[in-house]
Amino acid sequence: MAKVIIFSGAGVSAESGISTFRDSDGLWENYDIREICSAGCLSWNRDETIKFYDMRREDIRNKKPNYAHQEICKLKEKYPNDIAIITQNVDDMFEKAGCSDVLHLHGFLPEVVCESCGFKENIGYDKLDSAYSECPSCAVLLRPNIVFFGEAAPRYADLYEAFDDCEVFVVIGTSGNVINTDMFLNRQIKLSILNNLEPSAAINDRLYSKVLYKKATEAIDEIIMDIEDFLA
Ligand code: APR
Repeated sequence: MAKVIIFSGAGVSAESGISTFRDSDGLWENYDIREICSAGCLSWNRDETIKFYDMRREDIRNKKPNYAHQEICKLKEKYPNDIAIITQNVDDMFEKAGCSDVLHLHGFLPEVVCESCGFKENIGYDKLDSAYSECPSCAVLLRPNIVFFGEAAPRYADLYEAFDDCEVFVVIGTSGNVINTDMFLNRQIKLSILNNLEPSAAINDRLYSKVLYKKATEAIDEIIMDIEDFLA
């Protein structure tokens, strides 16, 4: 398994023009999590919930990966077995940058899924309306393939497993409120890099070997250099 984990959050896509969640004017300042992204929303508030994710899909349609996504994908291409790209993001910026081997912990916006049989379909940037609303085999209503607050996140098992062989842990663009990255800093990690715009109350930056408070596109060259030095 990979020696290097590049773990990202909304901040890595901020410079592509995709809103973060908890920065000022982030998504959760303008929407109520309880109404459109919590377990149960689809039963009591389906229309609004579906509409919210239709808008998110439309929002990423013309968005482009930025320099950070591109450099991370180039590195993965160069060292396919040594690098794991793990993200909390549901956008497709890494995929648009050419990398398909990405672990999306909180789901993937272009996909809709049947909760009953697991049928999954990539609808791109379309709306989850008449054309796609029912599962073709069991006629259950499809839902966005997004992990809501209070729901199980099945890919977390893969996240924990990925740390078995991890020696370099790079964190880019997450406040650490949902997944506290500090908890992965065990003795096996020889190099840890934290890159955010600013300190977060949820992250203890003294635990990291290197801290870069700057935009991901400005930090990425140094990060890539450190990883390549480690792998050399
Ligand atoms: N470059 C680097 N970091 C940035 C940039 C940037 N250009 N812009 C913002 N950031 C940093 C901020 O400093 C902040 O620490 O990105 C972080 C964004 O934090 P959040 O908005 O909380 O996003 P994230 O941590 O990814 O949220 C986790 O919460 O709502 C859920 O499921 C959703 O996956 C999401 C999870």
